[in-house]
Amino acid sequence: MKITVSRRAHFNAAHRIYRKDWSDEKNNEVFGKCSNPNFHGHNYELVVSVTGTINPETGYVIDIRDLKSIIRSEVEDYLDHKNLNLEVEEFRTLNPTAEHISVVIFNRIKPHINPEHNLKITLYETARNFVTYSGE
Ligand code: NI
Repeated sequence: MKITVSRRAHFNAAHRIYRKDWSDEKNNEVFGKCSNPNFHGHNYELVVSVTGTINPETGYVIDIRDLKSIIRSEVEDYLDHKNLNLEVEEFRTLNPTAEHISVVIFNRIKPHINPEHNLKITLYETARNFVTYSGE
């Protein structure tokens, strides 16, 4: 029997989606307003889900307090109120799209989770636009 435990989190961050090797025209054509050279912000909503079997001793898959503190240290402290392009190491070489942000978040949380558990990241860039990543 597998059960999924999830915790929601939130952070604000600024970004710009563009390629340095493309002209302003080409960036604007491909990325539209998201390539605005002056950056723009999003209120990111995050759902971190951990799937596994229930520990018979505790009745938990994962102690949600542990999940809360992992998200705080690995995601909120790392990304909240940051300019992703300028201040976050991973995005020096990666476009900070919702897809790439999800992969970065996954890779930061994964080492702290029981290796037998499955981790899934759901990241909302807006209320209607979201991506999911499970490490595949
Ligand atoms: Ni954007």
